[in-house]
Amino acid sequence: MASGDDDNSYWNATAAPTRFPQLAGEVHVDVAIIGGGIVGITTARLLKDMGKTVAVVEARRVGREVTGKSTAKMTSQHAIIYQTLERKFGEDRARLYAEAQEAAIREMSRLAAAHGVSADIEEMPAFCYTRDEKHVAEIEKEVEVARRLGLPATLVRGDIGLPYEVLAAVRFDGQAQFHPTRYVAGLAETLPGNGSHVFENSRAVDWEPTRVVTDTGTVTAGVVVMATHLPLGQVGGYYAMAYPKAEPVIVAPIRHVPPGMYINAEQPSHSIRAHRAPDGTTYAIAAGQSFKPGHTDEERQNFADLEHWLENFDAGPAAYRWVNEDYTPMDSAPFIGWSSSAKDGYLVATGFDAWGISNGTAAAMILADLATGKDGHAWLDIFDATRVKPMAGGGEFVKENLSVAAHLVGGYLASKPKSFEALAPGQAAVMKIDGDNVAAFKDETGTVHAVSAVCTHMGCLVGWNETDRTWDCPCHGSRFELSGRVIHGPATRPLGSKITG
Ligand code: FES
Repeated sequence: MASGDDDNSYWNATAAPTRFPQLAGEVHVDVAIIGGGIVGITTARLLKDMGKTVAVVEARRVGREVTGKSTAKMTSQHAIIYQTLERKFGEDRARLYAEAQEAAIREMSRLAAAHGVSADIEEMPAFCYTRDEKHVAEIEKEVEVARRLGLPATLVRGDIGLPYEVLAAVRFDGQAQFHPTRYVAGLAETLPGNGSHVFENSRAVDWEPTRVVTDTGTVTAGVVVMATHLPLGQVGGYYAMAYPKAEPVIVAPIRHVPPGMYINAEQPSHSIRAHRAPDGTTYAIAAGQSFKPGHTDEERQNFADLEHWLENFDAGPAAYRWVNEDYTPMDSAPFIGWSSSAKDGYLVATGFDAWGISNGTAAAMILADLATGKDGHAWLDIFDATRVKPMAGGGEFVKENLSVAAHLVGGYLASKPKSFEALAPGQAAVMKIDGDNVAAFKDETGTVHAVSAVCTHMGCLVGWNETDRTWDCPCHGSRFELSGRVIHGPATRPLGSKITG
C-alpha cells in the first residue's frame, strides 16, 4: 500500500476514477470553492442550480478524502446529541439542528434523483443503543427530547436486529445509507460547462476573500468558500475551537447482517452498517473508538478492539482498513457561515463531529444561500461560524488546548528507536537527529523515508498513522504522505526536506 493511498477505503476502491483537469491559468467565476468533498460539491451543485458559475478547486481527487472515508450514514440520529444541544443552546436552537439534518437527508435524495446520480441510497432505520444500565436513562431522555424536537424517534428494548440483546435503544425511521464516493463524484460530473469548472490535483497555496491561487493557476470570484474540513491556515481561528479526532474503520464480510445502522451510547464506541457488494458479499462498514491523530498506540488498540467486536457478526478477515478524521466543535454544534462578522471573510463549514454527511449537506444548503447574497439563514441561529466564544465550551477544551501545547514542545513518541539503524522494517518513529525532529519510516526493503517532523501549520510534531502509513498531526489534524506531501490541511505546505537512507 502506498502512503496516504485513498484506495484503501472500500468506497474509493469501488467508485470509477474521476478525471477532472488541473487548474491552468486564470479563471473567473461567481463563486470559488476550495475542497471537493460533500460540502464543496453540494454547494457547487446548488449554486449552479441557482444560475451561478462555480469553480471547485480540489487538492487531490473529488470525493475521495474525508467523505470517501466515512461510514456513509444519511441520518439525523447522531448518537446522544439532542439532550446535549438542548442543554447548551435551548430547545429552539436544538430544533434547528434537528430540522437541518432531516432536511439534508431529503436534499441528498432529491439531488441524486434530479441529476441522475446512482449512489446506492437505501432507506434504513438508525439506532443508538446501550447495553449498560448506566446509560438507559440517557437513551430514554434522548427519545423524549428528539420526539419533542419533531424527530421520528421511538424507544425500543431487547431485540433491535443485533446479534445481542440491548437494554434500550432510540430508533429513528426514514433514515438512509449510501455510497459516498459515487454520490460526490456523480454530482461533480454534472458541474463542468456553461462557465463552471471542477479542478483536481490543484492545491490552494494562497487565498484571499475573492481569489484562490494554486501552483498552476488562479481563480477569481465574488466569494470564496472554504470547504476544506478545517479552514486552511489560520482562517477564523477554528483550529482553536474544534479539535481533531481519528477513527478506525474496518470493512469485513459478515454472516450476521444487521437490518439498520447502529451506534452505541457507551465507550468504546462501535458503529456499524451493512453494505451488499455487486458480487453478493455483504460487508460490515464499522467504525470504532476515536483517538488523537498520530497516537499510534491508541490507534493499534482501537483497531484491535473493533476487530474483536466484529466477531459478534461472524465477520471474516478485514478486507479494508483505514483511518478517518473529523473535528469535534467545542460546544457540540458545527461552525457554518461567514468566518468574519464583517462579512469580508470566507464562507466556511467545519466541526461536524463525525456526522459530516447530513451536517455537510446542511452546510452546503446554508453556504449556497449566503454565497448568493442572502443576508442570513434560519439555521444560523445554532451554526453561526462567527459565534466568537462558543457559548458552551468546557473542561474538554481546556484539556485539548493543553494537549496542543504539549505537542508543540515534545510530540508524542509512541516508539523509541533513536536512529535509522535501530528502526525495524515496517517501523516508524519521531527521533532527534543533529538537533532536528525527524519523522522516519523504514519500509520492507530497508529504505528509510525521513522528513522533518515539524508540522508546517503551526509547528506541532506529527505522529505515525500505522494503518494508512501517513504522518498525522495531533494538534489540528493535518495529514502528510511519507514523502511529506500534504494530504489535507489546515497545513498547505509539505513537511521539510526529505532524507532517504
Ligand atoms: Fe496545526 Fe499541525 S495541524 S500544528
